[in-house]
Amino acid sequence: MDLTINGKAVQADAEADMPLLWVLRDQLHLTGTKFGCGVAACGACTVHVDGQAVRSCVTPASILVGKDIRTIESLGSAEQPHALQRAWIAEQVPQCGYCQSGILMAAAALLAANPHPTDADIDAAMSNICRCGTYQRVRAAIHRAAGAPQIANAQGASKAAEVTV
Ligand code: FES
Ligand code: FES
Repeated sequence: MDLTINGKAVQADAEADMPLLWVLRDQLHLTGTKFGCGVAACGACTVHVDGQAVRSCVTPASILVGKDIRTIESLGSAEQPHALQRAWIAEQVPQCGYCQSGILMAAAALLAANPHPTDADIDAAMSNICRCGTYQRVRAAIHRAAGAPQIANAQGASKAAEVTV
């Protein structure tokens, strides 16, 4: 099937019910998106589909033909980090780091829709699980990023920093 991932047309050899996460990790080697629970409970596998945060472990790739799929690999780069990534470093958010790509993608979708979220907005929008308990630093970093001028166009920033797949 033909998919569009991080702005690039790619071909995936997938059965109709194969989750997008399998395609990303096993076929395209985009391993920034993580497997946590496999049942849409933890958010480690969060990607964007047409700008919305989606849990790729339970989303068949076959229903995403023609959609704009974005993974953590497109959020920023070492040279041009996304405002959220800069804020993550400033707030020293990660502990083990395993959940963080999913949390960053959820946060990017949130800020694209709501550039200045309150704590309540953050809690309502983000149900990702972090076993290391980084939730307070996640909130602080989202608020920090919300103060950065370019965050009002988070999706555009995401689109500007693409990787080859
Ligand atoms: S791995 Fe998808 S929600 Fe946990
Ligand atoms: S930083 Fe370890 S699970 Fe979130």
